Amino acid sequence: QNICKIAILGMGTVGGGVYKILEKQKDNLIYKIGGGLEIAKVLVRNKAKYMDTVAPEMLTDQWSDIINDDDIKIIVEVMGGLEPAGKYIKEALQKGKHVVTANKDLIAIHGHQLLELAKSNNCDLLFEAAVAGGIPIIRPLKQCLAGNEITEVMGIINGTTNFILTKMSEEGMDFADALRLATDLGYAEADPTADIEGYDAGRKLAILASIAFHTPVTFHDVYTEGISKITAKDIRYAHELGCEIKLLGIAKNKEDGIEVKVHPTMISAKHPLASVKDSFNAVFVHGDAVDDAMFYGRGAGEFPTGSAVVGDIIDVARNMQFCCSGRIGCSCYKTIPIKNVRE
Ligand code: NDP
Ligand code: HSE
Repeated sequence: QNICKIAILGMGTVGGGVYKILEKQKDNLIYKIGGGLEIAKVLVRNKAKYMDTVAPEMLTDQWSDIINDDDIKIIVEVMGGLEPAGKYIKEALQKGKHVVTANKDLIAIHGHQLLELAKSNNCDLLFEAAVAGGIPIIRPLKQCLAGNEITEVMGIINGTTNFILTKMSEEGMDFADALRLATDLGYAEADPTADIEGYDAGRKLAILASIAFHTPVTFHDVYTEGISKITAKDIRYAHELGCEIKLLGIAKNKEDGIEVKVHPTMISAKHPLASVKDSFNAVFVHGDAVDDAMFYGRGAGEFPTGSAVVGDIIDVARNMQFCCSGRIGCSCYKTIPIKNVRE
């Protein structure tokens, strides 16, 4: 049996989700990729912290244990931050290792150079989890909607702020308490300033705009305004007007150029985005052929984000030609009895 060895960099909220999903899916992976996946190494800073959750022989605090292991073919970067994550990803691609990452900070600034590097080394660099957690949006924009001229991408793309605004609106919860709860649930970034000031949504919007409009857009191009100044009084006024306040990311491809902005917006309580609550995200896309399409789901947290990362890992493993790339009827398909529901 073919075994694909992977290394996971980081074992926090997202890394923990990836680890648990891969453990749970172990027996199914053969049907999905035509081979096995083995977690060979897990990189963390403080090994002692993870002794109870990760097999100790997998744990390392040395990048050299991973980059110098030629059997490790896929690097899963879920540690976050620009450095050393950026350096590790570059080195991995230069050595011909495929990379899966959830790191929007890095992709929103250096994504274009990293994708060039991946291409010149014949490697995959996938980052579905970097935008909107568990919602498939990068691949649909890149592939399924490629036949469109996309003119607008808009939506709620930060789970933490949507969670805070929902708690303030529906339960009258205090901003600080709601933020604490979002952090405890694993939604917030290591530094939640990125969430509440709109930087995290700005990074995601830059990634979405780049793919949708097929041109480099970086985080520095995005106007950002967060929700830290939103008070209980603002929410009350919005309710009096039959509205909700949501932090929206809006990218438009206009005749005179691209407009990318993130800011709190008052929307009618009847608007579909008003019913997007808690850590859920929703992204609207307008294309000239498809018209309007909407993507909705959980935008943050251990398992939703882990789901997107594992999807990318499986995609890379399939591309390594273990099997059929998901072709219906391939010999790697399972045989599950089909019930007769006609009687
Ligand atoms: P956490 O802070 O929960 O976990 C980070 C992990 O990385 C820890 O295990 C930490 O180990 C390890 N780590 C950090 N720096 C280093 C380093 N220099 N060397 C070795 N290990 C390191 O982060 P999250 O899991 O929440 O986020 C990870 C990434 O996923 C980020 O890029 C984030 O933006 C992105 N993301 C997060 C989502 C979420 O819902 N949380 C959703 C979508 C994307 P140690 O404990 O030893 O320091
Ligand atoms: N902090 C981010 C959020 C995590 O709240 O949306 C998911 O990208």
